[in-house]
Amino acid sequence: MVKISIFVKDYTQIMKVEIKFFLLLLTVALISCKQDDGNTYPDDYTDVLDLPETPFNYSNPTFPDTFTDYVFSFDNTPTDNPVTDDGATLGRVLFYDKNLSINNTISCASCHLQEFGFSDNRIKSLGFDDGETFRNSIGFANAGFYGAEKFFWDHRAETLEDQVLMPIQDDVEMGMTLNAMIDKLNDLEYYKPLFTNAFGSQQITTDRISKALSQFIRSIYSYNSKYDIGIQATKNIFLDFPNFTYLENIGKDVFNGKRTPEAIGTCVTCHLPNADPLHYELPIPEGANQVIFSGAEPDNVGLDDNINVPDNGVGEILGVISLYGHFKSPSLRNIEVTGPYMHDGRLPTLEEVVEHYSTGVKAHPYLSAHMKNSDGEPRHLDLTEEESAGLVAFMKTLTDHDMLNDEKYADPFVEQ
Ligand code: HEC
Ligand code: HEC
Repeated sequence: MVKISIFVKDYTQIMKVEIKFFLLLLTVALISCKQDDGNTYPDDYTDVLDLPETPFNYSNPTFPDTFTDYVFSFDNTPTDNPVTDDGATLGRVLFYDKNLSINNTISCASCHLQEFGFSDNRIKSLGFDDGETFRNSIGFANAGFYGAEKFFWDHRAETLEDQVLMPIQDDVEMGMTLNAMIDKLNDLEYYKPLFTNAFGSQQITTDRISKALSQFIRSIYSYNSKYDIGIQATKNIFLDFPNFTYLENIGKDVFNGKRTPEAIGTCVTCHLPNADPLHYELPIPEGANQVIFSGAEPDNVGLDDNINVPDNGVGEILGVISLYGHFKSPSLRNIEVTGPYMHDGRLPTLEEVVEHYSTGVKAHPYLSAHMKNSDGEPRHLDLTEEESAGLVAFMKTLTDHDMLNDEKYADPFVEQ
């Protein structure tokens, strides 16, 4: 400090320099304190991974008040696997690591891309040996709020913790065994500090891998779409949103059933459980779910008119014939970027999805009740051109550009 002051003539300037220098020292001291808590990532791996010195905040997002206690009652996070910043950081690395596939060609992110809402833009995805997956990839947003808890189009995974280990062992997707995966990860130095930070020791187990991947997926929250701004302003999906265009508000009223009062249930019945259109004239129940756009139960939306198809979904898994043709309805958040649509990716655009509900619903023997008229026939909403365009415009308000661009969900590998 003295040396510096030699070059400074005026006393006040010396003070300034000294204060600046003191602040610099303080900053250095604070940084080194942070490094001491053991939860930082060592510099020597920066040629492999670009991770922040202290982990991103995954565990404590600032939810808007539209994420009510009732919404949180759908939370499927198990008590032994809460999201932690270090756990989700490890999960992020695993998610983007091609070493999880047998020939180092495929990571989870190969079929679940952030820019496509963690889906991909293919009808069927491509696995490690260029084989095609059986179904269309599913995107993730607020997966932790999926009340039915089960995962995959046919609900075959009981929990997210079970689900995340399945693609690794899938013959088409990643082609590994769990033991081979553990051996491989044990040889990768960069996992040692990551496992230590997340779980207190270097030990790599399938349980820890499953937990970390699940934490990362659950941490992918969406609450910053245009829709979120509107619902925060009105707290009522049945009122016009001040930030919406005329067309978006029309689409919202098709979606919530206000425009088609004769229909028994519309989009909102299945895609926004507990904001039931049949009650749209009543005040919205305090704290109702107006933000989690994933279905409560699997449904059959009449894509086919018979069960002689390659894929009968939930019914086939459970051996329950009345559930044939029933599939999960994934979150509609970021739906604009997750196409093509439906379990088999048969509908290329949102316009075609709307056309399906407007005129195309087929008389499947196990069509869901909410897809029928009171006479039992498949219900066609018969939307006008304006209503159809509005419905598409409305769905696009569910795009969350913050989520799609947030670095904490992006590929942490420097080069692979
Ligand atoms: C080769 C492409 C591919 C790879 C690799 C892949 N997935 Fe998937 N993923 C899919 C497809 C296709 C589906 C839908 C399959 C189904 O439902 O039968 C899916 C479904 C999911 C779901 C279910 C979402 C829901 O809402 O039900 C989750 C979660 C998921 N994948 C996570 C992962 C994780 C974690 C990894 C890496 C360990 C991974 N995936 C690797 C293609 C892939
Ligand atoms: C009876 C419940 C039900 C109703 C009513 C309903 N949906 Fe769906 N929706 C589903 C199910 C289940 C799926 C998945 C179907 C499949 O893949 O076989 C789905 C799929 C979708 C998809 C594609 C999702 C994806 O990730 O591929 C969109 C978009 C969609 N619905 C929008 C709407 C709109 C708009 C309406 C109102 C016009 C509507 N839904 C009405 C249950 C319903």
